[in-house]
Amino acid sequence: MKSLLLKEYLQLELADFPQPQPGPGEVLIRIAACGICGSDVHGYDGSSGRRIPPIVMGHEAAGVVAATGSDVTRFKPGDRVTFDSTVYCGECPFCRRGKVNLCDRREVIGVSCGDYRRNGAFAEYIAIPERILYPLPESMSFPEAAMLEAVSVALHAVHVTGDVKGQTVLVLGAGMIGLLTMQAARALGAARIFIADIDATRLNLARSLGAEEAFHLSGDELTREILDQTDGSGADVVLEAVGRNETIATSIDCVRKGGTVTLIGNITPKVEIPLQKVVSRQIRLQGSAASAGEYPESIDLVAGGKILVKPLISAVAPLEDGPQWFKRLYAHEPNLMKVVLTADSETLQHAGAAS
Ligand SMILES: NC(=O)c1ccc[n+]([C@@H]2O[C@H](COP(=O)([O-])OP(=O)(O)OC[C@H]3O[C@@H](n4cnc5c(N)ncnc54)[C@H](O)[C@@H]3O)[C@@H](O)[C@H]2O)c1
Ligand SMILES: [Zn+2]
Ligand SMILES: [Zn+2]
Repeated sequence: MKSLLLKEYLQLELADFPQPQPGPGEVLIRIAACGICGSDVHGYDGSSGRRIPPIVMGHEAAGVVAATGSDVTRFKPGDRVTFDSTVYCGECPFCRRGKVNLCDRREVIGVSCGDYRRNGAFAEYIAIPERILYPLPESMSFPEAAMLEAVSVALHAVHVTGDVKGQTVLVLGAGMIGLLTMQAARALGAARIFIADIDATRLNLARSLGAEEAFHLSGDELTREILDQTDGSGADVVLEAVGRNETIATSIDCVRKGGTVTLIGNITPKVEIPLQKVVSRQIRLQGSAASAGEYPESIDLVAGGKILVKPLISAVAPLEDGPQWFKRLYAHEPNLMKVVLTADSETLQHAGAAS
């Protein structure tokens, strides 16, 4: 089968791999769409240390069941499916409590990090344990389904924050995750949502997705605006979707006393925390990692039009064009959001007809 192999850092090429066989409890999936994640782009040059070559990347995928191994009960050939980006064991104490994102034996699909290597979905086929599969509604296209992983990340961040019904929320960062987090907060009942970024084009996209209060401000200017908008008290919740020193500091300045800053962004490994502000204003800093059971809710919200993903898909392209698209994303070409790769001619045709 065709796979997109990271042979050396910055060197992707189409390679021939044997088609995987589904083992007991596993399902073979013919991949119809797989999105390029920011973490793939950061792994591509070796800077994150999580895509040590040789590796086939890709963890945001959807497709059709091609075959099932023994002991598979919930799926049959022909079913349209997506799957969790994380393979969790289902048995450790965290898995038993439903916190599958914290699994002791967690492996991310399409990652090689020294501890493990697991080839991903930039390929024609992948074999995956049945427990991480989810059925897709007929109405949802495969490229849209490839966005469900990121939607689940956004929903999880709002869930770990707590009940946001009626709350005032600031989303810091209007990238892929920020724009989905904004929509997740709205879907879960936030009363008022601000979103901020330093890139005006991202804020235009935010407005097209329904943002009413999108601010092209950062640092002290953003803090002043948020305080002005909230009678001087700050937002109940800040959802931080950048992950830099300055945006963490701004998040802490923009949240009200006793409020929560949920940390989604992790682009820098270390940041400085203004300790006394956090302690004396009793601010909760809440980390959020991937997702834990949010896929069915993501599917419902996207299928029901409550979370819009189509405007975030910049291109649906053939798998063999993967090397070029990685180069363009790596070069930070402006206005590129999600690029979805596929080896499936039908998915390409549909995408072409739709755009
Ligand atoms: N916790 C998780 O499970 C999880 C999952 C996926 C991604 N992430 C992290 O979330 C973050 C966002 O990911 P993404 O895919 O949306 O990335 P992205 O590159 O699409 O978006 C980042 C956005 O931050 C903006 N930005 C940069 N500096 C800023 C500043 N000083 N002030 C305001 N905005 C600023 C950029 O203009 C951009 O729009 C990354 O750190 C990523 O690693 C975390
Ligand atoms: Zn990802
Ligand atoms: Zn586990």
